[in-house]
Amino acid sequence: MSARRIIVAVTGASGAIYAARTIAALLAQGCALELVFSDYGKRLMLDELGKDAKVERLSDLLVEKYGDDVRRGSFVIHSNKDLGATIASGSHRCDAMVIVPCSMKTLAGVGHGLSHSLIERAADVMLKEQRKLILVPRETPLSLPDLRNMVLCAESGAMILPAMPAFYQQPKTIDDLADFLAGKILNALGFEQTLFPAWSGGVAGPKSSSGAA
Ligand SMILES: Cc1cc2nc3c(=O)[nH]c(=O)nc-3n(C[C@H](O)[C@H](O)[C@H](O)COP(=O)(O)O)c2cc1C
Repeated sequence: MSARRIIVAVTGASGAIYAARTIAALLAQGCALELVFSDYGKRLMLDELGKDAKVERLSDLLVEKYGDDVRRGSFVIHSNKDLGATIASGSHRCDAMVIVPCSMKTLAGVGHGLSHSLIERAADVMLKEQRKLILVPRETPLSLPDLRNMVLCAESGAMILPAMPAFYQQPKTIDDLADFLAGKILNALGFEQTLFPAWSGGVAGPKSSSGAA
């Protein structure tokens, strides 16, 4: 069976660790990834993961942090300015696209079909071809335009999967929080994942009135 081909775009919202964890987990699943970083996405990698988190040494960074499993997959990196890249066309087969983290600016561009950058264009392709598009926004508080743009994206067929870690799995570290979010993304893409355990009913058991999502 050929590897699943998935686009992962990284924009300038806080949460570069979510991008790194998601990319590493998809590579460990053996995926062929098409990666695009916006300018601010690259900047946030450095600001939040440290000065060694340069896109040019992404492979080393992921192996150092997440181990050799990431070598099961492969990736190419496209320029966000290259509107002639393969992923700008619906004829290029890609199963799905994730924008993680997704800035409010890029989310607005997707919601309005602007296609100003390769990230926005590839997302528009996903919507027009009715393929899976997952947006992982991070902002707080949210303005009315942010909320309206999320609705626009959802109405067009995108899944809004906010960067909102949960605490029912009793996270101890920042990596636990990133594992949870990456696990939710993998679940949404249809992968079996072990990044966080499925909810098992909790201390109170299955009759508890509180649920988990
Ligand atoms: C340190 C830093 C943190 C930021 N965090 C967020 C954020 O969490 N959410 C957001 O929507 N924008 C955030 N921004 C603003 C975006 O980076 C900015 O709107 C940028 O134009 C997004 O462009 P892009 O979507 O092409 O990456 C942040 C900017 C900086 C410099």
